[in-house]
Amino acid sequence: MSAPMLQLQDVVAGYGPVTVLNGLSMEVQAGSLTALLGRNGVGKSTTMKAVMGLAQVKSGRILFDGRDITHCRPDERAALGLGYVPQTRDIFPSLSVEENLVAGLKRFPSADLEQAYALFPRLRERRRNRGNQLSGGEQQMLSVARALLGRPRLLLLDEPLEGLAPVICQELLEAFRQLANEGGPAMLIVEQQVQEVLAFAQRGVILERGSVVHQSDCAMLRTRDDILDRYLGMAIE
Ligand SMILES: Nc1ncnc2c1ncn2[C@@H]1O[C@H](COP(=O)(O)OP(=O)(O)OP(=O)(O)O)[C@@H](O)[C@H]1O
Ligand SMILES: [Mg+2]
Repeated sequence: MSAPMLQLQDVVAGYGPVTVLNGLSMEVQAGSLTALLGRNGVGKSTTMKAVMGLAQVKSGRILFDGRDITHCRPDERAALGLGYVPQTRDIFPSLSVEENLVAGLKRFPSADLEQAYALFPRLRERRRNRGNQLSGGEQQMLSVARALLGRPRLLLLDEPLEGLAPVICQELLEAFRQLANEGGPAMLIVEQQVQEVLAFAQRGVILERGSVVHQSDCAMLRTRDDILDRYLGMAIE
């Protein structure tokens, strides 16, 4: 098997004196969809922040394409091909959809914009609306579309379905599937809607108190009510 695209090796990380990740080791394979699961506060967002250079890594290593990025700046990681949609969407409320999409890009990416609009037709319809005039679902689509314009090879999605109506969840998941089928980026997804994400991803990694307590294929995990109940507190029906 080829080397993993992303590797976290025994990562201890947190914020100043606070340690959140306690020797976390996990991998994401190229071209794969991986779900990162766990109860509130176990360190899912911190794992993504550590990968993006937004949490402090105290020991351990993070490798991307075999290259040690543990001490790279966030913008260097983005340039290497890491895209990130944070849990708190980071769109500009006073800029239009289209201005949000092109903000920070050096050239006007017409072809890429077309692709983003093809993936999210709602954004095309609302391209002149300001960020603060969008619904929650549209803001999420905008945040995802913007991350995609950076042409990442690995996209980190922190609770992309949070607070969305079921029909919009399906729309977003369908867009992600389409991306994956078209040879788009590998994805690491944090999601509380466990059934949805287990049906979507191939590999599941479960965290508890800042380290990995279980990982297996999602197809297997879907059948393991005992594991889902123990680590995610999902009531067995
Ligand atoms: N900037 C910060 N400074 C100090 N502590 C933080 C900071 N951000 C998060 N924490 C703490 O780190 C722990 C893990 O937080 P994290 O956001 O990684 O959890 P999570 O698994 O994403 O949870 P959720 O499911 O609620 O989003 C929590 O106890 C949280 O209070
Ligand atoms: Mg979180």
